[in-house]
Amino acid sequence: MEKILILGAAGQVGIDLTEKLIEIFGTENVIASDLKIPENPKCKFLQLDALDKEAIKEVIIHEKITTVYHLVAMLSATGEKKPLLAWKLNMDTLFTILEFAKEGLIKKIFWPSSIAIFGPTTPKINTPQSTIIEPTTIYGISKYAGELLCQWYYQKHKVDVRSVRYPGLISWKAEPGGGTTDYAVEIFYEALRNKSYTCFLKEDTRLPMMYIDDAIEATIRLMTTEAETIKTRTSYNISAFDFTPSELAALIKKHIPDFQIRYSPDFRQNIADSWPQSIDDTQARQDWNWNPRFTLEKMVSEMLSKLTNKLKV
Ligand SMILES: NC(=O)c1ccc[n+]([C@@H]2O[C@H](COP(=O)([O-])OP(=O)(O)OC[C@H]3O[C@@H](n4cnc5c(N)ncnc54)[C@H](O)[C@@H]3O)[C@@H](O)[C@H]2O)c1
Repeated sequence: MEKILILGAAGQVGIDLTEKLIEIFGTENVIASDLKIPENPKCKFLQLDALDKEAIKEVIIHEKITTVYHLVAMLSATGEKKPLLAWKLNMDTLFTILEFAKEGLIKKIFWPSSIAIFGPTTPKINTPQSTIIEPTTIYGISKYAGELLCQWYYQKHKVDVRSVRYPGLISWKAEPGGGTTDYAVEIFYEALRNKSYTCFLKEDTRLPMMYIDDAIEATIRLMTTEAETIKTRTSYNISAFDFTPSELAALIKKHIPDFQIRYSPDFRQNIADSWPQSIDDTQARQDWNWNPRFTLEKMVSEMLSKLTNKLKV
């Protein structure tokens, strides 16, 4: 039986992933950790700084951890404001976990990459698994360096580290943590609370996105598949749908007819402009049967219904 430690469990991905892992492996086999203490921890929770190597090592040994889900990162928008800290957090913590696996302390690692690894020279439509990769944000640079590190540890030291390149993730349980696609979550809160939203990207900015349930499904599927079927040890492209802010607003208007959107692009526009518009995930579909369940329309209905309940509007 696997014993799991999640780093960054109180974030946008961590909240949903922790619940799913508990469902599959049982509360007693999952330990959640983060700097931030979540409101209602669903399993054992430890307040841990992912930069504190010794503290993590102690937990891994003491709790007999076999698998680490490493979700701690500084995301694209915040990373541009604090580049040195972003580099340190994103790289040092990954090295720590990869080294623990190399030493045999743990058996398996999940570490997510991002569509942010792609840059302005990458083909923007149906971006292939292997292509030109010249990221222009510190976050993207750190994620691409991370992918190559994962591959290096796999090739040189047989470290079983697995990864997917998440697109922008849309969820309702936890709020997003400082990325360029955060607008696609904020818009739902504002639509329900105020029937209006000012978007920090231009109306025609097309980006690849995914509903959180599909992102969690991809993560679990990749982590529970046989090691031999995983042919890509950098990180897999995964895709669900893509849209622009005006297309999303039009779908929300079908549910909330008097919803209004305005546009006031800020520094995040440049980041978004450097990223792909859609992603080719053939490799993930072939290697481990990846297949998303949520269409754009289904995601919009689900978000509005879950948030209506959550916000009691
Ligand atoms: N959310 C997305 O749209 C998206 C897209 C692509 C990739 N990803 C990747 O998925 C992973 C999770 O992203 P997320 O959206 O949940 O991010 P998030 O910012 O919501 O969560 C990150 C968590 O890490 C915690 N954290 C920060 N510094 C820490 C430290 N020193 N020690 C311990 N915990 C610390 C934060 O408190 C936060 O709860 C990241 O690696 C991110 O790069 C996310």
